[in-house]
Amino acid sequence: MSQSADLLINDQSYPLPILTGTEQEQAVDISQLRKLSKFITFDDGYGNTGSCESSVTFIDGDKGILRYRGYDIAELAEKSTFLETCYLLIYGNLPTATELSSLEARVAQFTELPPEVLAALKALPANTHPMAVLSCGLQALGGAFPDLSSNNKQQDLDNFDKSSSLIISAIRSIAAARYRFSRGEEFSGSEKSGNYCEDFLSMMFSSKDSNGIPEAVSKALDVIFLLHADHEQNCSTSTCRMIASGGANPFASVAGATSALWGPLHGGANMAVIKMLNEIHQSGDDGSKFIQSAKEGKSRLMGFGHRVYRNYDPRAKILKSACDQALDALGVDSPILDIARNLESTALEDEYFIQRKLYPNVDFYSGIILQAMGFPTDTFTVLFAIGRAPGWLAHWKEIASNGKRIHRPRQIYQGETLRSYTEIASR
Ligand code: SDX
Repeated sequence: MSQSADLLINDQSYPLPILTGTEQEQAVDISQLRKLSKFITFDDGYGNTGSCESSVTFIDGDKGILRYRGYDIAELAEKSTFLETCYLLIYGNLPTATELSSLEARVAQFTELPPEVLAALKALPANTHPMAVLSCGLQALGGAFPDLSSNNKQQDLDNFDKSSSLIISAIRSIAAARYRFSRGEEFSGSEKSGNYCEDFLSMMFSSKDSNGIPEAVSKALDVIFLLHADHEQNCSTSTCRMIASGGANPFASVAGATSALWGPLHGGANMAVIKMLNEIHQSGDDGSKFIQSAKEGKSRLMGFGHRVYRNYDPRAKILKSACDQALDALGVDSPILDIARNLESTALEDEYFIQRKLYPNVDFYSGIILQAMGFPTDTFTVLFAIGRAPGWLAHWKEIASNGKRIHRPRQIYQGETLRSYTEIASR
């Protein structure tokens, strides 16, 4: 493979090095382009631009491959747990029994929220969206632990074992507290069973009794969190890295990433999928009319398509079977599941979707399981954030440790050229 590329501009050739990754992906390194040629490159939406070198997650969108630190997502979903995967993403290797139990102990000690954080959550306007509450809550949490959110990079790195465990644990508590407050209830913490999902489900749905929740449901939730744990340079993770590159602490980076995840084209899609399926169901359509309107560009088939996957999102495959198992365990017969299956089978055989390589993504089935578990729709993206927190933290640590420059992209200016100020009387 050639080790450099030649860029020819106005008869001037610029040799640019070629970067090759461990999975043989290749990039033209343009780090010196502007200095050499005064040119920059332009790539609206960054579809062709690598922003960094990272060792956390590998995706091959054409082959539908997703690996966390080299482990295939299907194998992790079958054999690992969410908390073990948190360790893998953050520290780079699967934990020993001792390492895992110390992470579990750290997470268990942080399920209670500081009173001032609870007070901050209660003080927010009642109609504040759960994702906005989560972002505020994460910043308030950093405020309650100033030694962990100092913005002194070495100090924040030295305290990262504690701050990362705190965020992974307390992000559940913030979500559950907001849910309880929205129902006029107090937040009573968790049973501290030590099982990450059982504790969360007990914080959300039952007073101190997580035994009433079928094991298949907490297992399905654990798989959902694991599948969402990281996804390389997606919109919210890139936001997290952008904030981290300025030297900000983990709480600020994760709070900013939470805001980026909220968008309906990103993490908000799981809420949009359920809204779409319910609207199709209520209209009496079996999905056929909706598919037609999507093909005419009048609607978007939410939960379909992906910037990177030009094949089936491997997470969607796993969620589809987890969906069947969870609904069986809950004894739920979901009419919108039938519509989802009809949409999927129709789209997978339709030229419009095939030509554009549009397949179900991680959001297509997750919402159906979450709704069947009793989570309100406006909490779905919060659950995505709980799953994605370890990924964001792993990327914060990668940026904080690699000591590179602050992220600062260039632009091509398309505004007014120089003009003189005119007094208001003559405008
Ligand atoms: C996530 O990046 C990540 O890794 C994200 C994520 C993660 O784990 O972090 O995987 C999580 O965000 C998954 C995606 C969730 N979003 C949705 O399900 C929303 C619906 N999907 C789309 O809006 C869209 O597919 C995106 C946003 C996911 C990707 O958008 P792109 O790559 O910018 O694609 P595009 O908008 O340029 O579309 C290309 C063509 C267009 O048609 P033409 O103009 O060529 O005629 O495909 C069409 C689009 O109209 N198209 C769709 C479609 N998605 C794209 N048409 C109908 N339904 C869709 N869902």
